[in-house]
Amino acid sequence: MKLAIIGCGNMGLGHARRLETLGHSVAAACDAFPGARDEFKAKYPKTQVFEDHRALLEKSKPDAVWICLPTFLHKQTVLDCAAAKVHAMIEKPMALTEADCREMDSAMRAAKAKLMIAFCRRFDTYWGKLREVLVERRALGKPVVWRHIASGRPPRDWFLQKDKGGGPFMDGCVHNWDFCLWTFGAAKSVKASLLTLSEHDALDTGVADVIFESGDRTTLNWCWGLPTGARGANDQDILGRSGVLRFSLPDGHKPKGFNAETMGGFHISRGKDQVEVFTFEKNDMYVEEDRHFLECIAQDKEPVCGGAAGIAATALAERVFRASAAPGI
Ligand SMILES: NC(=O)c1ccc[n+]([C@@H]2O[C@H](COP(=O)([O-])OP(=O)(O)OC[C@H]3O[C@@H](n4cnc5c(N)ncnc54)[C@H](O)[C@@H]3O)[C@@H](O)[C@H]2O)c1
Repeated sequence: MKLAIIGCGNMGLGHARRLETLGHSVAAACDAFPGARDEFKAKYPKTQVFEDHRALLEKSKPDAVWICLPTFLHKQTVLDCAAAKVHAMIEKPMALTEADCREMDSAMRAAKAKLMIAFCRRFDTYWGKLREVLVERRALGKPVVWRHIASGRPPRDWFLQKDKGGGPFMDGCVHNWDFCLWTFGAAKSVKASLLTLSEHDALDTGVADVIFESGDRTTLNWCWGLPTGARGANDQDILGRSGVLRFSLPDGHKPKGFNAETMGGFHISRGKDQVEVFTFEKNDMYVEEDRHFLECIAQDKEPVCGGAAGIAATALAERVFRASAAPGI
């Protein structure tokens, strides 16, 4: 299979490395900026490098591409892939509006080309274990209340531009939105109060509270508007009637044979000195994500996170923005 990377920044380089781990070379790559092209060429000298994706599609004729561009460029690139009947893995979020996501999904379906959204948590043993504990074992009871506080500054300005990256409640939280929709079902109600702290125009700070069909709930209190390098709070826990899940292993509670290099874990505190520990073998979720996409193409299967998942997650982010714009009482 002939593979190509569109956008040679952080994620483009990351996927090229994972594909190499899986025994695949990248036949072609493109980036609009010479520095990124040079860096890619230095690492992968045999790759044919282009300035734009249309030239790449036309001249290199790949079977599948990894789209690793800033989010506002995802839609047109996917439509061009559909026109060329090329399979596409798109970095998350799929696009900045539900309408754009639907157009992309329809075009790829009409072209009979595979479309996958890079919701990497779905391939991570860490998040897989958490889902098993919450859903299959119901280890906290029902409903659960997942609280997540995060603060910082994204690495490049486009993440904070409303029409390019959409800010944290679109770009970063889309991982949470997808994981929760997958784990708890559709969103029943949404409340939000967001504002802009940075010099850019995306809503970068505030609280979003979502209740799902299952009755489970998540409250995200995020800020991406801090000055670069400033450190705020970053923590999360999940509350339930039978305890609280913390994303760590407490001292003295690591099971026998626990190897921190290869294993991870979290725990539920159920009362004084009552701790239940859960462990898992670590993996590289990006390798597994790329493996899944390659398998879907080879075996003509639907990816577990195709267009429908991308549409649902972006739609939820848009609901958060609409809820924030609604008048409070
Ligand atoms: N799955 C994850 O964990 C994860 C993490 C970070 C980012 N992302 C997503 O991946 C995507 C890319 O993010 P990134 O961190 O790699 O960004 P980045 O800024 O590091 O890379 C984007 C690259 O696209 C190039 N580019 C910009 N305009 C272009 C154009 N018109 N034609 C060709 N190339 C162009 C830039 O030069 C840059 O090299 C985004 O959708 C982002 O949300 C996903």
